[in-house]
Amino acid sequence: MITAVCPGSFDPVTVGHVDIITRAASIFDKVYVAVLVNPKKSPLFDEQERVELLRQCTTHLDNIEIESYNGLLADFAEMKGSRIIVKGLRAVSDYEYEFQMALANRRLSPKIETVFLTTSAENMFLSSSVVKQIAGFGGDISGFVPPEVCQRIYEKMAQSDIKG
Ligand code: PNS
Repeated sequence: MITAVCPGSFDPVTVGHVDIITRAASIFDKVYVAVLVNPKKSPLFDEQERVELLRQCTTHLDNIEIESYNGLLADFAEMKGSRIIVKGLRAVSDYEYEFQMALANRRLSPKIETVFLTTSAENMFLSSSVVKQIAGFGGDISGFVPPEVCQRIYEKMAQSDIKG
């Protein structure tokens, strides 16, 4: 059985994330979706909310497991007995950061291989930050996030009084 880990901060999950997770699930026998801490970001949703939103919009997949983990991605992969990390690549601008992460993870755990899936063309510009910024100014995000997530973002932003 070949398993993979699909990591991210997923704050919140977008249609781009769902696309990558769905494609990973069609390649590997099992995919562990890991909601991790990105120290460079201050999240809008807490870890449990992000896990819950991911669960709601991936009910079409029966070979994935979603959980949060407060530690290193390499340790999470080790814990799951998985040596493949799957990440989506949108544009050249993603590349340098992702390349650095892939090398760091391989140094931490030499058997880890990072596999990149190219984003679907329609999601090239999409990121959780773009979604939050549009929602923060009252724009329409219905095409960018799964319907289950859409209303939750507006509510959360209203509570937090944040503009992305
Ligand atoms: O969706 P993101 O924010 O691009 O995901 C980045 C994430 C969460 C995968 C990355 O920050 C991460 O792996 N965090 C856990 C800590 C870690 O293992 N860092 C890599 C070694 S420096």
